[in-house]
Amino acid sequence: MSKGSLRKPPKLQPGSPKDPVRFGHYYLLGLIARGGMAEVYRARLVDAPEGEEPRLLAIKVMRPELAKEARFVDMFHREGQLALMLKDSAIVETIELGNIDGRHFIAMEYIGGRDLTQILRRCQKSSLRIPVPHAVHVGVGIAKGLDFAHNLVGPDGRRLSLVNRDVSPSNVRIAYTGEVKLLDFGIAQALMKFTSEIGILKGKFSYMSPEQIRGMPVDQRTDIFSAGIIIHEMLTTEKLFRGDTEFALMERVRKADVQPPSKFNRRVSPELDRIVMKALARDVSERYTNSAEMHADLKAVLDGYRFDVRELRDFMRKEFRREYTKDLQDSEVARVAVPIGERLPTFDSNIEPAAAKNSVPIPGAPLPPPANLSFGEGTDSQVAGLSDDGIQMEISENGTNDVAGPVLENEKSGFWSRMFKKRK
Ligand SMILES: Nc1ncnc2c1ncn2[C@@H]1O[C@H](COP(=O)(O)OP(=O)(O)OP(=O)(O)O)[C@@H](O)[C@H]1O
Ligand SMILES: [Mg+2]
Repeated sequence: MSKGSLRKPPKLQPGSPKDPVRFGHYYLLGLIARGGMAEVYRARLVDAPEGEEPRLLAIKVMRPELAKEARFVDMFHREGQLALMLKDSAIVETIELGNIDGRHFIAMEYIGGRDLTQILRRCQKSSLRIPVPHAVHVGVGIAKGLDFAHNLVGPDGRRLSLVNRDVSPSNVRIAYTGEVKLLDFGIAQALMKFTSEIGILKGKFSYMSPEQIRGMPVDQRTDIFSAGIIIHEMLTTEKLFRGDTEFALMERVRKADVQPPSKFNRRVSPELDRIVMKALARDVSERYTNSAEMHADLKAVLDGYRFDVRELRDFMRKEFRREYTKDLQDSEVARVAVPIGERLPTFDSNIEPAAAKNSVPIPGAPLPPPANLSFGEGTDSQVAGLSDDGIQMEISENGTNDVAGPVLENEKSGFWSRMFKKRK
């Protein structure tokens, strides 16, 4: 594998759900989002395993600037091997780690849904609270994923002592089925190291632990602290740590002077307060020693609510109705679409019947409505692996034709900057 090639790779064509673009043995089916370190595309394998339904994937392609650094590329591939070992229902499944034409990428299962930054932002905008049981369910999912990763053992049977270091709302994805998935586990350390070196850690300080901010050695309890921040924010719809300057923010995290969430939300029970505050203890020795304990405590609270995951599913589909609808449409098309260049020679043989069967529209023609759009009535299988934050989603949310990248960035800074203003 050639790593850190000096030749600048050609600009990647993102494709779209109905116009796939070849990327090695994958089709790219449109840009999902552009993050600081990478771009995420909807994708699928060119040759789906025989007899299997085409499965939608998400491919995260590292930005070329990063790929210039051989150290970083090595670390990305080394640590990405860990991501391949993380097979748990609360962690996004990593399918492949590779390099196509100098583009380093990670292929994952596609999670149709929204990340927690987007959900919190939407709640802010609509003056809506995430219901407490929903937030606890998400907390249970986060703790479950952490517990699995923290206890992962290597081929020699020894614990790998994996620490995520980047448990943050943008790395928690809530599917339109109500499932909770942790993203970026395994590669987070490589990314964090690199981002801290090139000085673009900005948004990350708010979700770090006090010991991490101090640059001290960290263990799995640092992830527990970050999980505590996320749960606190879900319960209060307020950012927990903020500051007018980076320095002020870091000081706040260092002090970890936290009010219990019930101060902001009367529906939070004393037991839930206790769990969140234990996760958020400044002193690591007062924190949960492992995520299994935190998971058990949160699960006990959740059991008391008799919560059904369909409640979160319905919440997601209702609050992100347009995005969910768009995602159903795009995903249905993206599963079967073929590039124009490849369409003609095979038109009479395999492709056309398949396309016809799945009602794939002619490019440019209006899309037919999806089979079942009644919210809360669709079955899980109808939406499994669907939807996402596509470019089009951004259009519908903002009423503009901006591309996903800048909009997403604005989206995030917009959300938090509004929070800052509100506080001042
Ligand atoms: N497997 C996936 N399925 C669907 N969407 C995904 C998947 N992985 C990532 N995304 C979405 O892509 C977007 C960008 O993710 P990315 O990790 O590049 O940036 P980020 O999390 O905002 O920042 P960071 O670089 O700090 O991780 C997020 O909204 C994320 O939820
Ligand atoms: Mg991420």
